[in-house]
Amino acid sequence: MTTADNSERAVTIGLAGIGGYGEFYARALLEGATQHRACFAAAVDPAPERSSLRSAIEAAGVPIYRSLDELYARLTPDLLVLATPIPLHAPQACLALARGSNVLCEKPVAATVPEALAMREAEQRSGGRFLAVGFQWSFSEAVQALKADIRAGALGRPLRLKSMVQWPRASAYYTRNRWAGRIRDDSGAWVLDSPVSNATAHYLHNMLYLLGSETHLSAAIQSVASECYRANPIENFDTAAVRMVTATGVEILFLTTHACPDGLGPVSVFEFENAVVTYSHNRDETFEARFADGRIRNYGNPNAQPDRKLWLCADAARDGKPIPCGVDAALPHLLCVQAVQEAAEGIIDVPASAIRLRDDGDAGTLRWIDGIGEVFSQCYERHALPRELD
Ligand SMILES: NC(=O)c1ccc[n+]([C@@H]2O[C@H](COP(=O)([O-])OP(=O)(O)OC[C@H]3O[C@@H](n4cnc5c(N)ncnc54)[C@H](O)[C@@H]3O)[C@@H](O)[C@H]2O)c1
Repeated sequence: MTTADNSERAVTIGLAGIGGYGEFYARALLEGATQHRACFAAAVDPAPERSSLRSAIEAAGVPIYRSLDELYARLTPDLLVLATPIPLHAPQACLALARGSNVLCEKPVAATVPEALAMREAEQRSGGRFLAVGFQWSFSEAVQALKADIRAGALGRPLRLKSMVQWPRASAYYTRNRWAGRIRDDSGAWVLDSPVSNATAHYLHNMLYLLGSETHLSAAIQSVASECYRANPIENFDTAAVRMVTATGVEILFLTTHACPDGLGPVSVFEFENAVVTYSHNRDETFEARFADGRIRNYGNPNAQPDRKLWLCADAARDGKPIPCGVDAALPHLLCVQAVQEAAEGIIDVPASAIRLRDDGDAGTLRWIDGIGEVFSQCYERHALPRELD
């Protein structure tokens, strides 16, 4: 097929996982595929009845298969989107690449680093197919513009970066599937689900991504210090404080919790030699740099086009344009996830006397750590981990 033919035809897209976050993709595909010269060709889900969009997908004439094997027995989509549980990312991405699809895999790229490396090998063996990772901020114009200025040296040398996010998650969050908050799933496969790897992973990845030496890379990590806490009755932790140093000596602080009474953030402050970049989700949701000479540059809102990752991948499947966030960009985040998980002290159980409970209706019971907001704001202020505060 010639390039001219390629530019005319609709890109066929398959979606694995139509419940949970997959509903975001299903809606985007149902509403926007034609406009983006794409075709929502098929869906895959062993439990489609759990998706509120099942009828809409069927009404649009999109077949829903029960497994990837059933899908590939009938067609090979140009792009397969994986919005499936974390332990399935590696086997499903490897299968899809081997069968000739490009892949957009949700974050985290995989549960473990060896799995991610196997995915990279599958990508390399795929004869030019790509594996993109769905950290949506990395596909946003705002992050790309900020990263371009950082790489060009416009802000000077990076000094230190910090981000904090407090997102309450009550019991229904952990009971919505069989893998939330787990270290391994029922079959023994690694999950390592936590706020570091999953819901708030974007804001840790973003700091590493912004410091990457090329568009498709993130900063390498030299060392990681962390404290992990558990207030919920889950296998893994729900609260973490992480401080990393990159290979070029930049300090990164990341504070995240689901065991908090109120939502806050993400908030970020990125200090450079010649500028300070700030971001606050609770205020104007844009990245803004204040330069030492008084100039201000606003880079825009990284949440403005959450579906841009999908359409950039559809374009890339059509015309081979490079994707901004693939497995290499996502690996440092995963290395951090594993380093935090392996930290010598393990997970610290919050004493029952410090846990508060709240009935959040349909969301279940919220368990939060008394004083977490105050401790985290002091850590944020002082670039410290909780135990360093005294
Ligand atoms: N980018 C974001 O902002 C964002 C937000 C939320 C979740 N996510 C990511 O999306 C992924 C899914 O998370 P979730 O919370 O929706 O999970 P979930 O378990 O709630 O839903 C997963 C969906 O996949 C389906 N599924 C299970 N096994 C499958 C299989 N073998 N083949 C096809 N489909 C299968 C389930 O039936 C369900 O519909 C995770 O990687 C998560 O980190 C990303």
